[in-house]
Amino acid sequence: MEQTAEAQNSIVKLVDIYKTYILGELKVPVFKGININVRRSEFVGILGSSGSGKSTMLNILGMLDVPTSGKYLLEGKAVETLSDRELATIRNRKIGFIYQSFNLFPHLSVEQNIEVPMLYAGVPRK
Ligand SMILES: Nc1ncnc2c1ncn2[C@@H]1O[C@H](COP(=O)(O)OP(=O)(O)O)[C@@H](O)[C@H]1O
Ligand SMILES: [Mg+2]
Repeated sequence: MEQTAEAQNSIVKLVDIYKTYILGELKVPVFKGININVRRSEFVGILGSSGSGKSTMLNILGMLDVPTSGKYLLEGKAVETLSDRELATIRNRKIGFIYQSFNLFPHLSVEQNIEVPMLYAGVPRK
């Protein structure tokens, strides 16, 4: 199927995203129909008060969590159709996280920490 220029330009697109956390009997609705389109070369920040859903949004964008409903298109591809293996490859190659806490492996050196994702990416040892 041929993509329009608009679709090719879109890096991250969320369409009518809902997210509700379920804690036993309690339902915590966080997103009720979010729409976002981030285009190539755009630089975007997400601002919001504590508890407004920034981390929830980043977890969905980083494919660490899934929305309750709605569509997430990464470079035009529907994320929900991808296998765990494909998701892992995309996280390795296309998505970078800098966490508030660094999430390093404490038993590895700095150099070894940097090497870990490169091992998964199949970068030659040399
Ligand atoms: N794992 C979870 N289970 C239940 N509720 C959650 C969970 N994570 C976040 N929440 C709730 O979802 C809302 C959004 O949280 P969060 O995305 O962490 O906001 P922010 O990062 O903007 O502070 C808050 O009301 C929070 O209490
Ligand atoms: Mg947060």
